[in-house]
Amino acid sequence: MLEKKGTNGRTSMQSVRSFVRSHKISQASTFPYCDASVDVCTHRTNQYYITRQDSTESNARSYPRKFPFALAKARGSWIEDVEGNKYLDFLCGAGTLALGHNDPEINQAMVDLITSNAPLHTLDLTTPVKDEFVHTLLDLLPLELKNNAKIQFCSPSGTDATDAALKLCKTATGRSSIIAFGGGYHGMGHGALACTGNLAAKEKVNALMPDVHFFPFPYSYRCPFAIGGDDGIDAACAYFERTLKDPESGITKPAAVIIESIQGEGGVIPAPIKFLQTIRRVTKELDIPLIVDEIQCGIGRSGKFFAFEYADIVPDVILLSKAIGGTQPMAVVVYNKKLDKWMQGAHTGTFRGNQLAMKAGTVVMNRVSNADFLAEVIKKGNYIEKRLIELKSKVSIIGDVRGKGLMLGIEFVNPKETIDSIGSFPASGEVAAEVQYKCFEKKLVVEKGGRNGSVMRCLCALNISDDDLVKAIDIFEEVVIAVNKKYGK
Ligand SMILES: Cc1ncc(COP(=O)(O)O)c(C=O)c1O
Repeated sequence: MLEKKGTNGRTSMQSVRSFVRSHKISQASTFPYCDASVDVCTHRTNQYYITRQDSTESNARSYPRKFPFALAKARGSWIEDVEGNKYLDFLCGAGTLALGHNDPEINQAMVDLITSNAPLHTLDLTTPVKDEFVHTLLDLLPLELKNNAKIQFCSPSGTDATDAALKLCKTATGRSSIIAFGGGYHGMGHGALACTGNLAAKEKVNALMPDVHFFPFPYSYRCPFAIGGDDGIDAACAYFERTLKDPESGITKPAAVIIESIQGEGGVIPAPIKFLQTIRRVTKELDIPLIVDEIQCGIGRSGKFFAFEYADIVPDVILLSKAIGGTQPMAVVVYNKKLDKWMQGAHTGTFRGNQLAMKAGTVVMNRVSNADFLAEVIKKGNYIEKRLIELKSKVSIIGDVRGKGLMLGIEFVNPKETIDSIGSFPASGEVAAEVQYKCFEKKLVVEKGGRNGSVMRCLCALNISDDDLVKAIDIFEEVVIAVNKKYGK
């Protein structure tokens, strides 16, 4: 294959290879990488790359429409575009980069592996690297599961972990229906999308996996029962239990219940402890496998290694992706071996043996599971939450602030419209979009989610420095106060 030559006459691949051979990863906190022949360091503009991207990539592209830049470098909580603009990254690969960009220890571990002649692609064959990854992960499970756990490596995206888990539970139980929750997000594959709440993503895709039944998820600010508070949680618990135990409910006994411990894309809505505990108790009583999707909220983001630990429950199946691959693509399903009724090859996939991801993921698990590290996540999360609650008291466009650890959401509303029966203003995607745009102008990258895209989500690196944290919240505050002048009351 022909490769473009750089300014020093080497091809970019030659440059990358020689870079990997000759470099030990620097501990410097600024951007140390800039090999003049690598394409990303040519001096083209953001517009140049965006125009080319627009003309070649599918209409489904989404982030470039909100963040119209081409990235050249990244380190820690900072990213830099091809024009040299530096941004604070509060998106971090949609929560994938638990330790930020280009963490020196992760990169060194990967460089060491690359240069060691170890195989990098191994299907589902075992290796010392895989063995270490598996045992590091199993050691972090709740005791009850740890001694009975099996693991399935999936094709490297969260959606495939969801599909694998659905197939696993259907096979194990011989049943067909699935219970999911409004606002839930489990991926974009056909099975995962069928279990996802967001209608916009589903409306144009006919004949998704049938027999998925959606139950109300407690969401105090927009309570599905129009009650809110503890009473709303009690209603959701009662509805779940009574429906599943009702011989006239219309829903046959499900193969699985699938839930996120903290809904992410749905608008950063933590499942109340009582709700998770009720779901666990009822599913156990009825012998229904409980799949807990920790793809976004797991691996320390909530301040616990697994977010379900807040409720002290033990799932039958745990879905992991994003941060578990330590920046590299990976998805796994961890499950109770009583469900392992799969025959050989029941869920295959070529890319299940990414050794770089296993190496990097092991580093992440070791660092993030440290009690001091998790305590810092909670401390930083508390700091942001405190600042946001103060900000909410100064403006009228913030309806709600919620979350756990460094998974926080700020729900924007239109305060000029009428409040509903529980005192909430309508969600405003327009206000959130304006906040996002102005944050981007001030070099803070932050993503939205939730109903009509009204919820701004904090998905910063878990090891973000205090200085960067303060800087980001200062920018956010300044922007929200400015936007409030236009949309507030
Ligand atoms: C909770 C949850 N489950 C599943 C997925 C799907 O993961 P992927 O985008 O890697 O397919 C996501 C992605 O955002 C997620 O947040």
